[in-house]
Amino acid sequence: MTAMNMAEIAVPSLRLHDGIEIPQLGFGVFQVPPEETQGAVEMALGAGYRHIDTAAAYGNEREVGAALASSGLAREDYFVTTKLWNSEHGHDSALVAFEASLDRLGLDHVDLYLIHWPVPTEDRFVDTWRAFERIYEEEAARTIGVSNFRVEDLERLEAETDTRPTVNQVELHPGLQQAELRAWHGEHRIATEAWSPLAQGGLLGNETIAGIADRHGKTPAQVILRWHLRLGNVVIPKSVTPRRIQENLDLFDFELSEKDVAEVAGLDGGRRIGPDPSTFVAP
Ligand SMILES: NC(=O)c1ccc[n+]([C@@H]2O[C@H](COP(=O)([O-])OP(=O)(O)OC[C@H]3O[C@@H](n4cnc5c(N)ncnc54)[C@H](OP(=O)(O)O)[C@@H]3O)[C@@H](O)[C@H]2O)c1
Repeated sequence: MTAMNMAEIAVPSLRLHDGIEIPQLGFGVFQVPPEETQGAVEMALGAGYRHIDTAAAYGNEREVGAALASSGLAREDYFVTTKLWNSEHGHDSALVAFEASLDRLGLDHVDLYLIHWPVPTEDRFVDTWRAFERIYEEEAARTIGVSNFRVEDLERLEAETDTRPTVNQVELHPGLQQAELRAWHGEHRIATEAWSPLAQGGLLGNETIAGIADRHGKTPAQVILRWHLRLGNVVIPKSVTPRRIQENLDLFDFELSEKDVAEVAGLDGGRRIGPDPSTFVAP
């Protein structure tokens, strides 16, 4: 199979509550140094990924934009997410930060713009969200969402603003399954997007996962990613390793059984590897 044939692999899309479609599997670039980003994103696009997840804070939007430009893909054929950093909360500063992201990406719109963290201790995310509503109305973001929001943060947006986020991107992997938050999302038609879906590699040596992988002739990473897809999560694994970039896309020739899913459910320990959204501020 050539790289461009791989691009025809049917990565499923989810329809968000505003009608926008998001590819359920994307490519994350957190901790990819700027000098490696363009090459990694070009490799991912060549392998068939059509959804890239970056952020102002990652310091690599410019290189993501360069890879998209050099791909020759039509704008409507890829989906780009970026995020507003914690230091830019507030209505006017969010508008300025958004323009700066667009400029670095070299795009006239993004597909999804996210508030990266709620920073509840500063209590500004409602004002920020009003700027997001304006960006959405002006069609500079096709859809708008949040990241690392807790149920109480989502409830505030629900009570105080007119537009419900379409996506909440949160830490989620077999060690932190986020049942309560996922249930709330389900009731409110908010898509759950899983960050650190592989627990940054921390679960790949787990015996239970390895047992399931053996039964299917797949790798532990593929089992975990398939588990996310089965739960209905959007998933954005990161890798700079060519073989793994391919491997993480090669998920569509097997299904997990009920038994497999029950075994993964048993791994939930409420263990975060990232910061706690209740207290996290700009570092
Ligand atoms: N919204 C937020 O606050 C937030 C926070 C964190 C992350 N994110 C997003 O979520 C994306 C993914 O999360 P993440 O980067 O933290 O972690 P991750 O995707 O769970 O794990 C990435 C790590 O796993 C390794 N890996 C990837 N595929 C593998 C495979 N098939 N076999 C073995 N090892 C593999 C990678 O190594 P190599 O690269 O060396 O191959 C890397 O060390 C980020 O890139 C970012 O876009 C968002």
